[in-house]
Amino acid sequence: NPEVFILAIESSCDDTAAAILQNDKVLSNVVANQLIHNQYGGVVPELASRAHQQNIVPVVDAALRKANIQKEQLSAIAFTQGPGLMGSLLVGSSFAKSLALALQIPLIAVNHMQAHVLAHFIDEESFDKPTFPFLALTISGGHTQIIKVDDFFDMTVIGETTDDAVGEAFDKSAKILGLPYPGGPLIDKYAQLGNPKAFAFTKPKVTGLDFSFSGLKTAILYFIQKKKLENPNFVDENLNDICASIQFTIIEILMDKLKLAVKETGIKQIAIGGGVSANSGIRNTLKEAENKYGWKTFIPKFEYTTDNAAMIGIVGYQKFLTQSFETSSVVSKARIQF
Ligand code: KG4
Ligand code: ZN
Repeated sequence: NPEVFILAIESSCDDTAAAILQNDKVLSNVVANQLIHNQYGGVVPELASRAHQQNIVPVVDAALRKANIQKEQLSAIAFTQGPGLMGSLLVGSSFAKSLALALQIPLIAVNHMQAHVLAHFIDEESFDKPTFPFLALTISGGHTQIIKVDDFFDMTVIGETTDDAVGEAFDKSAKILGLPYPGGPLIDKYAQLGNPKAFAFTKPKVTGLDFSFSGLKTAILYFIQKKKLENPNFVDENLNDICASIQFTIIEILMDKLKLAVKETGIKQIAIGGGVSANSGIRNTLKEAENKYGWKTFIPKFEYTTDNAAMIGIVGYQKFLTQSFETSSVVSKARIQF
């Protein structure tokens, strides 16, 4: 088999990322994070587009240099078609189109959500690959889905959030506690020192495999407001316990739906992806589920779970093998199904 070199570009949200893959192995994986959004407490689309425009060339250049690859060696260019912020997507797709045209090589469009799932097929010694069929739980600041994966490009969303994503639930809860954005990692940190049963928050009643997190946010807000009336220092004095209790509730919501998905599909392999899969409580709970329920769980290397271009590259490689190429008139899509 001849070697395939893919340049992959990801620009769907607030990270500008480029990676080089040699077949299914990652040679380089570069991300420029946009810290500018932190002061606004969330991603500002207009600022994201501008930062992508500034970062895209240096990031691609760094990916090529780190991989020690000349652009003339590239076999194809893969880019994120969607879903995502339109202004952000346009920067990556326009750059990918131009470079593919200049180098006279094929262009490959990648679905960002499929890429979060297929990141598990990057060839790495440090983690196992799932076998088909498996369930994927993608949890991030932008998405919360349970996906039944029957083959590389045969996936069905069987459950998803009807309002906020899990990452938003973490970040908005953190904001109520006065923690800086993004608060998810901080809730995780304080939760490790607290009692998860200290405070009880009611779980949302959503039928089937769908999720809802906006009610939890409101419940936390009212709870904190009430407690502060009794004791203005309530949050400071109980931060660890509050964080542990919030995290415990979020994990319970996720686990209830996963258990139901396993029951309905009979599939016991669970692969997780998205930035929230960094959460230590979620990781521990999934590891425990291996013994408790006989599941096999798959957690990829952290750099492949948050938004990254290596995951775009592995999908690009699969599509290269089947010659799934696009013409230069392919368009970005803010919303996109599998
Ligand atoms: O995948 P990601 O980097 O970007 C997208 O949203 O697509 O995910 C970012 C989200 C944020 O909401 C952040 O607070 C959350 O992942 N997050 C965490 C942890 N690390 C990142 N949430 C809880 N615990 C963590 N350790
Ligand atoms: Zn993502």
